[in-house]
Amino acid sequence: MAGGAEGIARDRVAVAGASGFVGRALVPRLVADGVRVRAIVRDLTRARTRLPPTVELSRADLASGDGLDRAVYGVDTAYYLVISLGSARGRAFAEQDREAARRFVEACDRSGVRRIIYLGGIGEADRPLPAHLASRREVARILGSGSAELTTVGAAMIVGAGGASFEMATQLVERLPVMVLPRWVETRSQPIALADIVEYLAGCRRLPATAGRSYDAGGPETLRYWELLLRIGARLGRVPRLVTVPVLTPSLSAHWVGFITEVDAATARPLVDGLVTEAVERDDSLRRLLPFRRTPFDTAVDLALAARAPAPGGRSRIRWRHFPRSLGGGPLRLFRGARRSG
Ligand SMILES: NC(=O)c1ccc[n+]([C@@H]2O[C@H](COP(=O)([O-])OP(=O)(O)OC[C@H]3O[C@@H](n4cnc5c(N)ncnc54)[C@H](OP(=O)(O)O)[C@@H]3O)[C@@H](O)[C@H]2O)c1
Repeated sequence: MAGGAEGIARDRVAVAGASGFVGRALVPRLVADGVRVRAIVRDLTRARTRLPPTVELSRADLASGDGLDRAVYGVDTAYYLVISLGSARGRAFAEQDREAARRFVEACDRSGVRRIIYLGGIGEADRPLPAHLASRREVARILGSGSAELTTVGAAMIVGAGGASFEMATQLVERLPVMVLPRWVETRSQPIALADIVEYLAGCRRLPATAGRSYDAGGPETLRYWELLLRIGARLGRVPRLVTVPVLTPSLSAHWVGFITEVDAATARPLVDGLVTEAVERDDSLRRLLPFRRTPFDTAVDLALAARAPAPGGRSRIRWRHFPRSLGGGPLRLFRGARRSG
């Protein structure tokens, strides 16, 4: 489907990854701004239950490219919130994300999309990066290689119900009275509230000056990971004891996360790998362009906890599981908290 600038409506925006954690929060915000939103989704039925009823849905799969030209046709600005971390096995996520970004940028070129706004990670620019952050940076490079002007917004952990990193941290705190942690607990991070990252993403569309630029979006506090875990524990009313050990391999940490939380080990591994990298803002230019009072960390956690689905029956269910033999095995039995739905 050939596009062309003449068919493009300035107020029509496509959101790829609309039914994901960030997408579900961004779409209603854009609708409230008076924008005509086209949500690009893989599963129309599921998307209907997750997104406002007035939003146009367009089915497309970035793995195959099916439906993609139609999805971005006539669009001025396209948000890119796609990541395959949860669906790809092992390290295949980088390859999948590279291909998806390439297909997307090619479709945008064919349709004459003017701007792409991408949410990626924050990481030190001049150091070799862990696989997850390197992949996010590669996606930015690919998205910027087409004719649309790219805005990249980088974030550390986004604090909101259902966010993979937030759930990983929160469920560990909920389920473990004592946590054995490696040295990365000293790494600094600048977590940001879901509502605040949505504010920045929506604001970038309104400001033409952000086209072609790259920004970091940090929350108001810089916390070491051990502080972050204790602060979440304080909001939950169950502060864990933290014990640091000199060596705990990322692989073992990821298996441990997969065993204790609902975040599976394949998703956890790249996230755990990324924890060694400082995730703090390198400059404050986005804050100067879009000034507002950022949500304090404790408030963001309270909002996220309140938005989470309650455990079935309203109480935590206790389940006992054998510690897998591959991780030391034997008769050790561990407490495992409730699985939540949704
Ligand atoms: N979560 C955080 O704490 C955090 C922090 C910093 C940056 N970010 C960035 O924010 C962006 C969005 O992350 P998220 O947390 O919202 O992730 P998410 O909840 O996993 O959502 C990812 C979205 O991508 C879609 N997707 C994956 N593969 C696709 C494909 N082949 N075709 C079409 N759609 C596909 C998924 O569709 P389905 O709904 O069909 O699965 C889902 O809607 C990512 O770029 C991530 O790096 C997130």
